[in-house]
Amino acid sequence: MTVRLGILGLGSVYWTPYRAAIERLGGRVRVAAAYDPDPDKRAAADRVTGASVALAGAEAVLEHPEVDAVLVLTSMREHGRLARAALEAGKHVLVEKPMATALEEAGALIDAARASGRTLVCAPAVLLSPTYRAIAARVARGEAGRVVLARARYGWAGPWWGRWYYEAGGGALFDLGIYNVTSLCGLLGPVRRVVALVGTAIPERTVEGAPVRVESDDNAHLLLDFGESRFATVTTGFTMQRYRSPAVELYGTEGVLQMLGDDWAPEGFEQWRNAAGVWEVHPETAPQWPWTAGLDHLVECIERGAAPVMAPEHARHALEVMLAAKRSAEEGRAIEIESGFPAPDYAAFPDEGGGERRVHDPRSAV
Ligand SMILES: NC(=O)c1ccc[n+]([C@@H]2O[C@H](COP(=O)([O-])OP(=O)(O)OC[C@H]3O[C@@H](n4cnc5c(N)ncnc54)[C@H](O)[C@@H]3O)[C@@H](O)[C@H]2O)c1
Repeated sequence: MTVRLGILGLGSVYWTPYRAAIERLGGRVRVAAAYDPDPDKRAAADRVTGASVALAGAEAVLEHPEVDAVLVLTSMREHGRLARAALEAGKHVLVEKPMATALEEAGALIDAARASGRTLVCAPAVLLSPTYRAIAARVARGEAGRVVLARARYGWAGPWWGRWYYEAGGGALFDLGIYNVTSLCGLLGPVRRVVALVGTAIPERTVEGAPVRVESDDNAHLLLDFGESRFATVTTGFTMQRYRSPAVELYGTEGVLQMLGDDWAPEGFEQWRNAAGVWEVHPETAPQWPWTAGLDHLVECIERGAAPVMAPEHARHALEVMLAAKRSAEEGRAIEIESGFPAPDYAAFPDEGGGERRVHDPRSAV
């Protein structure tokens, strides 16, 4: 079975990470159609694919009879509308993060997926990394006791391409903080309340050589209340030049778990168990794990007829948390969160927890 792909958005993420992911999948996928408003990118897509895949509009991709699944890799503001149209056209969908920029749009996407019976995989794919799975399994087994406090961070200096990142509807929280919010919710469950500081610390940037007045947020601290006095923070921004700190820190009543690297590119983890009385260091078992793993996951879901590990409701919840953070910052108060989501379900993908198995591999055990 070959899953025939329609690509919407031939920008930065298409050319390197997603093309590499498509190549890795070999005969399991084929690019059948693509669209980007930029004619040079369309011409380049034809060249690298070796076929006339570039079409005259997004609708032509969505309605193409030879497209089974659509990858929405555009700027954020287009995500919700295009992903929904693809589902309504009967296609499976992978949508880059965030799934939408408004909550109603996210809800409509979930409804469209349900009505069509098609698979909707929402980025980011952080819950799929072997290291995340190894940590999540330890949390589930209670190895850290009850996790009551957590910290997560992800940031960098910010994109030098794509003006939209800095325009209204873009921003660091949607682009970067979403990884941390998604990870933490997978480990701690739904957020109940948010308090946040969200701002624009660097009001002018240079994008592709031209000055840009920044309209979006680029700097944020979120305080998340998971209920029962379980709290977490998210630190994110286009304001972090470098760091040498864990990506995710989980503090439980019996121990500690720390993911190193970034949650989209883990570099192993460390565990403290009161019972053992030592730090256990688990080097990364899957250093080549790609953050585009959502595409492999989409293909596996289609091939096996399985539901994605992360339900789209989880992605909608992350969006609600981020929108609430912005509101909290504007209004100077805590915002209640209403939505919930099903816990990540790995049952259909039992072998791919690799991390769990491989961590006990003598090469990676300490
Ligand atoms: N760049 C990264 O490192 C990175 C990593 C992970 C995820 N992402 C996500 O991937 C998405 C794309 O990011 P990027 O860095 O490639 O941005 P980009 O600006 O380089 O590319 C976006 C492309 O979408 C095209 N586009 C806009 N409207 C469209 C439409 N209606 N139909 C088809 N194409 C349209 C633009 O012309 C542009 O070529 C974003 O959602 C981003 O959050 C980016």
